[in-house]
Amino acid sequence: MFKPKFSLPSEALNRADADVWAVSTRAHELADKGEDVIFLCVGDPNFDTPEPILDYTRARLGVGRTHYSPDAGEPVLRRAIATIESKVSPHPCSADDVVVFPGGTNAIYSVLACLLNPEEEIVIPEPMYIGYVPICDALRLNVKRVACPAEDNFAFDVESIKAAIGDETRVVMINTPVNPTGAMATPEQLRELAAYCRERDVWLVSDEMYSMITFARRHTSLRTAAEHLDNVVVIDGLSKSHAMSGWRLGWAVAQGELVERLAQWAGATMFGCPQFIQEAAAFALEFDGYFVEQMRSAYEKRRELIVERISNMPGLSCYAPDAGMFVMVDVSQVAESGEAFASALLDAERVSVLPGAPFGPSAVNHVRLTLAADEADLRRALDRIEHFVTSDNRQAG
Ligand SMILES: Cc1ncc(COP(=O)(O)O)c(C=O)c1O
Repeated sequence: MFKPKFSLPSEALNRADADVWAVSTRAHELADKGEDVIFLCVGDPNFDTPEPILDYTRARLGVGRTHYSPDAGEPVLRRAIATIESKVSPHPCSADDVVVFPGGTNAIYSVLACLLNPEEEIVIPEPMYIGYVPICDALRLNVKRVACPAEDNFAFDVESIKAAIGDETRVVMINTPVNPTGAMATPEQLRELAAYCRERDVWLVSDEMYSMITFARRHTSLRTAAEHLDNVVVIDGLSKSHAMSGWRLGWAVAQGELVERLAQWAGATMFGCPQFIQEAAAFALEFDGYFVEQMRSAYEKRRELIVERISNMPGLSCYAPDAGMFVMVDVSQVAESGEAFASALLDAERVSVLPGAPFGPSAVNHVRLTLAADEADLRRALDRIEHFVTSDNRQAG
């Protein structure tokens, strides 16, 4: 009889934490049975991709842009990304510094695969994006987490990151703005961290997927802030800003030999991204920012609504995030953990929120609410949460 044997990376993924989505999986099961569940757990924009982008894509499909594409990406898209980078940064960026990937996730995976060997150390502040865990598991990396405490609204803390960098550290990966906390690194913090990492021969990778969804102030990219760029990689994409999550389009901006290696990696593992999607992405980036701004301002309105309502609910508290698509709610007064709260809330009120623990120990007493839900649903969900915390149901948590 055939005895299946699997690779270590796939074993690592197979062991990965299925509990992360336990509450939302249960929520989907309830919804499938016809229950009226409101989902506040996803980070997928609830807007359609803007119509002009769809029109342009149809046109490109119509002229046969359905063939193989260069490993590093279509020149027109690499140029569009470089132009955007050059507009905001004191450092010129050329198309040669850009490599295109099918989504931010793949860009992160490819960058880390080019920078680290199994068992090598990567430093990542937490709370961190849940998606980093399976990537680091698959690459069998040693993840050293740096706590950004809830008391400071999970603020970015350069000193703690610097203190965590040891002789074994090969890469520091940051996320600004942060999913789930909305924290943003300041230009000074980025400059300082980049310089320190460079001094220590450590790569600094910055995931900037929420760069265009900011509220408190404009985003500053690591590439804009850093004095030198040779140890710096920036990852971004269109999933969030342009409501193009299903198009799978992301990129990495780097320098020198790393760009060549990333292109080789992309060639070996993807053999290029779809032409028509890359051309649509170039169009989206060059197209005026009207739709991006409309979506951003809708998220901002929803942020205000959630913060206002939650702050007035007994036992719950939250802060207004500077950026991103989420609000973190502190439930420590009413439940023993975010997990207990999320589970009891689903049982009692059929609202699905994400427990904080999978994002890291600092978020264990929090739940994450998404801004990617329409206002009517948000209002209904907030009414239910209010009912939950003002009734006896919450005792279940
Ligand atoms: C911080 C962060 N990085 C990367 C990603 C992945 O982006 P993509 O959907 O383009 O793979 C996400 C998606 O939620 C994210 O929140």
